[in-house]
Amino acid sequence: MKCRKCSEKALITLRRHNASFCKEHFNEFFIKQVEKGIKEYKMFDFSDKIMVCISGGKDSLVLWYLLHKMGYETTGMYINLGIGEYSEKSLRKVEAFTEKFGLKAVIVNLTELGHPIPLLEKSVKRHACSICGIAKRYYFNKVAYENNFDVVATGHNLDDESARLLGNVLKWDPAYLSKMDPNLPEEGDYIKRKVKPLIRLTELEVGAFAFMNGIDYITDECPKSVGATSMLYKGVLNSLESDMPGTKHYFYNEFFRTVADRFRADSEEKTEMYNCAVCGMESFLETCSFCKMLEKMK
Ligand code: FES
Ligand code: ZN
Ligand code: ZN
Repeated sequence: MKCRKCSEKALITLRRHNASFCKEHFNEFFIKQVEKGIKEYKMFDFSDKIMVCISGGKDSLVLWYLLHKMGYETTGMYINLGIGEYSEKSLRKVEAFTEKFGLKAVIVNLTELGHPIPLLEKSVKRHACSICGIAKRYYFNKVAYENNFDVVATGHNLDDESARLLGNVLKWDPAYLSKMDPNLPEEGDYIKRKVKPLIRLTELEVGAFAFMNGIDYITDECPKSVGATSMLYKGVLNSLESDMPGTKHYFYNEFFRTVADRFRADSEEKTEMYNCAVCGMESFLETCSFCKMLEKMK
């Protein structure tokens, strides 16, 4: 197989684009997709201070590497979830990455704060992933607010977001469907804009980019994610994609082109913000979901 651009030997074939690329032209393709996503959804510009949420996985490290390389002002933010060996390994990957590329990250350690995910899981009767989601959202907002970042960027890719869309469509949940936008506006004074610049790229493409550019990442799945419904939705979309390349992209993009606005309008009417009675952070509830969770630990 030859590269579509230069006829050198291709290293990767992307069926959904009906194209094969050598390393140089795959990198060019990849960066263009990121630039396109940033521009299409007006995510940020060079005057913004960007906080990149990193987990030690390929998506977030690739995102940070690229935004930094493109000249954006970035700082990483890592949450040590306290999930045994998995968290230790992912922290080591983050440390190796920051050292290799000369970058700095803010680190929040849930064990030191007294509420690692396994402990929260014991007191709150919910799936670990949903507890973890609440904790991550809370600290993303808090760190971004306290450090005056303009925007919070996460490494969600097309696989993540099309799977999330499928889950929300299956339930026809308007509140969740209204939050699908890869550029969610800031809310009140505390909650910063949230963006997903890798939205035009699949998990496979991000993995290939990491491999070709010497970005080492944790390959283990989080042990708590076993049985998560998102995995099921990803599996369904993967089998559709393999028979019909381009399905994920079409499904996701057509949602925004056709019906997403209706859900946005619905949600705008209902938003009322409070300051959490416990921590003071802005919230849709009188006590924020994170503080409610911590109360259950007492
Ligand atoms: Fe949050 Fe696994 S990464 S529960
Ligand atoms: Zn080429
Ligand atoms: Zn609170």
